Amino acid sequence: MSPISLRPWSRAPGPVLAALACCAWLMTTPAPSLAGDTTPAAELARFQAEAGAPADAARGQRLFTQTHGREWSCASCHGEPPTRAGRHASTGKSIAPLAPAANPEALTERARLDKWFRRNCGEVLGRACTAAEKADVLAYLTRLRP
Ligand code: HEC
Repeated sequence: MSPISLRPWSRAPGPVLAALACCAWLMTTPAPSLAGDTTPAAELARFQAEAGAPADAARGQRLFTQTHGREWSCASCHGEPPTRAGRHASTGKSIAPLAPAANPEALTERARLDKWFRRNCGEVLGRACTAAEKADVLAYLTRLRP
């Protein structure tokens, strides 16, 4: 018999220490954000680049809080300012705060962002928002503090 099988635990400390080191590392590493394939800042930069002009937070605030010839404004569902949970204007369902400072998951998933911009701009403006309008709204939202 080899010396290893005679003393089976003589080789244990190496792997055991490695396992401990691994789990300690896992436990101290911050969990990745849940939705997260983008950031609010990256999306603002994307729409600004598409628009070819700097965003304007004040213009974004006006777009967000005013109606546009139809029944609802963005604030009808998201609240004003949208640093607290909103309430859907027709279903009454609670909507998580849209401002990233109040909700770390807001504006962190590109597909969700694009989908809701498409749907909500259609609802409120009766057309798609332009890249400049989306940049303005994101400039407004990312400047809000709870
Ligand atoms: C009729 C109600 C309603 C109106 C009006 C509305 N929204 Fe929304 N919006 C929602 C709901 C519901 C969601 C999804 C929330 C969720 O998934 O938690 C949403 C999500 C969004 C998101 C995506 C949030 C994210 O984290 O990616 C953006 C951006 C957004 N809305 C912007 C707007 C803008 C801009 C307007 C005005 C042009 C507007 N909304 C008007 C109901 C509304």
